[in-house]
Amino acid sequence: MFHVIVTVLVLISTICNATIEENGSCAEEKTIPNGGRIEVTETAYHNRFSYVVSLYDEEHNYVCVGSVLTSRLILTTSTCVQPKPPVTHVRVNTRDSYDGGEIHYVKEAIMYDQENYTKNDIALLLLKTKILDVHPVQLVSPSDVQVSKGDQVLALGWGKMDNNVWPQYLMGVYLEVSPDEKCQKFYSGGDSWICTENKITYICAGSAGAPILFGDKQVGVVSHGDIDKRGMTCSSNQPVASVNLLKYLDWIQTYTQNKTYA
Ligand SMILES: *[C@@H]1O[C@H](CO)[C@@H](O)[C@H](O)[C@H]1NC(C)=O
Ligand SMILES: *[C@@H]1O[C@H](CO)[C@@H](O)[C@H](O)[C@H]1NC(C)=O
Ligand SMILES: *[C@@H]1O[C@H](CO)[C@@H](O)[C@H](O)[C@H]1NC(C)=O
Repeated sequence: MFHVIVTVLVLISTICNATIEENGSCAEEKTIPNGGRIEVTETAYHNRFSYVVSLYDEEHNYVCVGSVLTSRLILTTSTCVQPKPPVTHVRVNTRDSYDGGEIHYVKEAIMYDQENYTKNDIALLLLKTKILDVHPVQLVSPSDVQVSKGDQVLALGWGKMDNNVWPQYLMGVYLEVSPDEKCQKFYSGGDSWICTENKITYICAGSAGAPILFGDKQVGVVSHGDIDKRGMTCSSNQPVASVNLLKYLDWIQTYTQNKTYA
């Protein structure tokens, strides 16, 4: 049943993109170029977002996004580090995905859930060497105002743009948080996910591991949706699921507060 629904939605969306309607959601999709994604300027990157890092495989292909927790720990998803291509190194302190900053190699990938990494899609990368210029991300805390439906959150990363173009510079896009009922219709696991609409403004393949920010704090890590199956545009009726960090703060702390990983 689930597959039937997804297929139908994809079909409708494909038809809409081929014939732009005068009104309705299809026309709306076309009003914002590239799903509302905008380039993060050099100044904005260094002042506010320099904890966003890009992850690479051994052939220097861009794989995923991550965020800096400490001088040796990077937060990302398990699907980014498992099973392959394995992430071998990260580039930090640059908004350019192929130039500048510092390169650090990965010593170990630590997954929350080895058995079923799509269920608890969160992982840490332990670096071999320490980041020299460290700008850690601030994580959500239980006493913060929590995200709920209709809130605008910011996703940051180097995921694919429309027309199969990959950006050189870090991009940001505001996404709307989906209602819980809609999230649960597509993804089991209840409040371990934060869902965001991916229709008018949207993200695409290569966004996994991207930090989801609410205010100045990271509340989620982009996990999955139907963003990987799509071609020229990633606009979709299916929301994207991000790991709800609030559920994993204790686990993260066991590593960030342990001297072995400092
Ligand atoms: C689109 O416009 C037509 C005619 O102006 C109208 O009949 C139709 O209901 C509209 N559709 C939507 C989805 O608003
Ligand atoms: C892994 O978790 C996902 C999401 O909860 C579930 O759909 C899938 O069946 C699980 N797979 C295994 C092998 O347990
Ligand atoms: C720190 O991590 C190491 C290696 O995983 C573990 O053996 C040790 O018990 C941890 N220490 C604390 C205080 O949790």
